[in-house]
Amino acid sequence: MEPTGLPSAVRGSIHIESHLDGTSQRSLADDALDGLTKPFKELPPKHLYDARGAELFDRICELPEYYPTRTERAILQERAEEIAELTRAVELVELGSGTAAKTRVLLDAMQAAGTLARYVPVDVTESMVRETAEALVEEYPGMSVHGLIGDFERHLVHLPPAVGPRIVAFLGGTIGNFPPGSRRRFLRGIASLLGPSDHLLMGTDLVKDPRVIQAAYDDAEGVTAEFNRNMLSVLNRELQADFRPEDFEHVALFDEEHEWIEMRLRARREHTAFVGELDLEVHFAAGEEMRTEISAKFTPRRVERDLAAAGLELVRWLTDSDDVFALTLSRPAS
Ligand code: SAH
Ligand code: AVI
Repeated sequence: MEPTGLPSAVRGSIHIESHLDGTSQRSLADDALDGLTKPFKELPPKHLYDARGAELFDRICELPEYYPTRTERAILQERAEEIAELTRAVELVELGSGTAAKTRVLLDAMQAAGTLARYVPVDVTESMVRETAEALVEEYPGMSVHGLIGDFERHLVHLPPAVGPRIVAFLGGTIGNFPPGSRRRFLRGIASLLGPSDHLLMGTDLVKDPRVIQAAYDDAEGVTAEFNRNMLSVLNRELQADFRPEDFEHVALFDEEHEWIEMRLRARREHTAFVGELDLEVHFAAGEEMRTEISAKFTPRRVERDLAAAGLELVRWLTDSDDVFALTLSRPAS
């Protein structure tokens, strides 16, 4: 079947727009000013992903301890055909697309269903969007790519108008990196973008033995530690700070009450860092910890409640045989 919806002139083309400009640096500066002056210091995880951070994250995905990526990929391999048939989606919008490694499984299924017309990756990491867009137009002849470089919490208003039924994919468990209230706010925002024929496909890591989770966020090779400390290099470069990454150790701590794992950076000694751009001195006591990420783990009930709170109804619950990871396909509640 011919892909529908897009004028033939648009097929096979690349269009990339960036909404970062000076605003991304301002957002980092504002977040750093907020986070470094709190009684319990913290920085939002989106700043972990400069080009180096994105590369480190890719290495994490290959680690034996880091089970989410390979489990989600296996679920997709098993169920992508069903997803494509059920949604009849013409385009795939992917939030936090990264290298789109697993996305290809979905694109293959949409292509096989004869519906695939456009891929819309959205990511803060410019190099990722550009490289992925270029690779994918080559790999999928006839598919166009409309890449959006920007913050998915602020820039989704710039999504191009839908050209037909759409899947919005939010893979990898990135939804777990939001604190619970922001998570609901974000999902409500996504739901408001969905038309009656659109679906959200979301990956969530499930609650399991804390030791398994702990190992995934504190791997033997130390890649996650390097990923975590990369936040300091981002601050040094972007905000003229003088953090010494070697002054901080990586901490991964499972919070049993909230069922999320936190990444923190713990000061090895008492010291003061200076953030030039903010003209800010930041004092660390020996052993003081700064939170750089939460990664929530979900029960089926938690996922369903979050979806329902956003006005979404579950269409398919897709999981592996050991209930390690789940994908949900949902749509606006009727
Ligand atoms: N979807 C991929 C990558 C997950 S890593 C996978 O499943 O493996 C998280 C991705 O989200 C990174 O590529 C990061 O750059 C991006 N990201 C994180 N916060 C973001 C934000 N606020 N806006 C846009 N992209 C963001
Ligand atoms: C992107 N996100 C879902 C990853 C996670 O597992 O929360 C980021 C990550 N942090 C440490 N390792 C991987």
